Amino acid sequence: MTAEQNQVKLGLDGILAFESSIATIDGNIPELIIRGYDIKEIASSLSFEEMTYLLLYSTLPTGDILNDFSEELASLRDIPSSVLHVLSTTPTEAHPMAVLRTAVSLIGASDPNADDLTDDDNLRKAINLTAKMPTIVAAQSRIQSGKDPVSPNPALGHSENYLYMLTGEKPDPVDLKAFETTLVLYAEHETNASTFACRVVVGTLSDFYSSVVAGIGAIKGPLHGGAIDDAMRMFMDIGSPDKAKPYVETALSNKQKLSGFGHRVYRAGDPRAAELKDLAREMSTSHGDSQWYEIAQEAEQAMKNSKNIIPNVDYYAAIVLYQLGFQLNMMTNVVASTRIAGWSAHILEQYNNNRLIRPRALYTGARGKKHKSQNH
Ligand code: ACO
Repeated sequence: MTAEQNQVKLGLDGILAFESSIATIDGNIPELIIRGYDIKEIASSLSFEEMTYLLLYSTLPTGDILNDFSEELASLRDIPSSVLHVLSTTPTEAHPMAVLRTAVSLIGASDPNADDLTDDDNLRKAINLTAKMPTIVAAQSRIQSGKDPVSPNPALGHSENYLYMLTGEKPDPVDLKAFETTLVLYAEHETNASTFACRVVVGTLSDFYSSVVAGIGAIKGPLHGGAIDDAMRMFMDIGSPDKAKPYVETALSNKQKLSGFGHRVYRAGDPRAAELKDLAREMSTSHGDSQWYEIAQEAEQAMKNSKNIIPNVDYYAAIVLYQLGFQLNMMTNVVASTRIAGWSAHILEQYNNNRLIRPRALYTGARGKKHKSQNH
C-alpha cells in the first residue's frame, strides 16, 4: 500500500472534521457527554423541553425561561393544511421517512424567510420544526392505520402530547416516562452520519430546511436510524426466545449484518443502549408482554458469544417504541423527530464557524483515454 493510500480513511473513520462544543463520545469508557452533562445523569431527569433548550442555548433553562420555552413549543405544534394534505394523499406504500422528508421540505418551501441565515431566524426555524415534527409523525401513524389525525393539545407537555396525538388518549405515567427518556436519549449524538450530512449542507451556506432534509435522508438508511425498524422486524422474524441463538448464528455464518448491533465509535457498549434496556424491561413488565425483551436478550447473548458485538441505541429502543404503540415502520420517524434538536444545534454551530466541507478522493480510475468523434 502506498503512503497516499494509507491516508484514505474509508467512512471518514476517526477523522476530526470540525470543532464542536455540543457533544462528545468516548467509545472506550464508554460515555456520551452533551453540553458537559453525562447522558446517564440527564437521560431520565430532563424533560424533552429542557434537553432541547440545553442543545440550542448551551445551558439548562429554569423557572420562567423553561415555562416560556415550553409554551413557545406548544404554540407551534399545529401543521399547515398543505402538509396534512400531503400526508393524506401520498401513496400508502411510500416510505414513512420519505413522507416526513417531503413534509419538512414543504414547510421550508412555504417559509418566506427560508433563506434568512441569521442565528435568530435559524433558532425560530429550529423551534418550529422541533414542535411540528411530532405532529407530522403522529398524523402519519394515524393515517396509516385509517384513523383521523388528532390535533395537538397545548395544555400537555411535548412528550405527553406526542403520545396523545398518537393514540388519542393521555398516556399513563410509566409510558410517558419511558417515552420522554427515549426522546432525550436520542436527541443528540455528536458527529453521526445524519448530523454530518446537515453540516455539509450548511457548509455550502444553503438554508436550514435543506440541511434538515439532508439529515432526514441520511438517518433513513438502515445502517443509521433505519436500523430501529429493522431491529423490531428481526425480533419478529426470530419469533421466540429459543430461536434467537440459531437465528444469530445462521445470520453470522451467512455474513449478514444484524440490525441494532455494532457501532462505529462504541465498541465496548453504547451507554444509551444500557438505559434503553432497562426501559424495555420495565415496559415489558408494565404491558405484560415480555416476549420481545426475552428474544432480544437471547439474541444479545448469542451475538456476544459469537462475535462480541454490542447492541446499539436502536436495539432495545425498538421494543420501547413498539410497546408504546408505534408501528414497525414509524420508529425511524420518531428518532428523526427528536434528533431535530441535535441537528439544529449543529446547524447553528456550523453557520457560526463555517468552512466549506469538501474532502478529496483517491482517484483509482483510468487516465489517458482518447475520445474518437463519431463523425470521423
Ligand atoms: N452484525 C454483524 N456483524 C457486524 C455488525 C452487525 N450489526 N456490525 C459490525 N459487524 C462486524 C463487521 O462485519 C466487521 O466484522 P469483520 O471485521 O469480521 O469484517 C466488524 O464487526 C466491524 O464492523 P464494521 O462494518 O467495520 O463497522 P462500521 O463502523 O463500519 O459500521 C455499523 C458500524 C454501520 C453501525 C455496523 O455495525 C452495522 O451495520 N450495524 C447494523 C446497523 C445498525 O444497527 N445501525 C445503527 C447504528 S446506531 C445509529 O445510527 C442510530
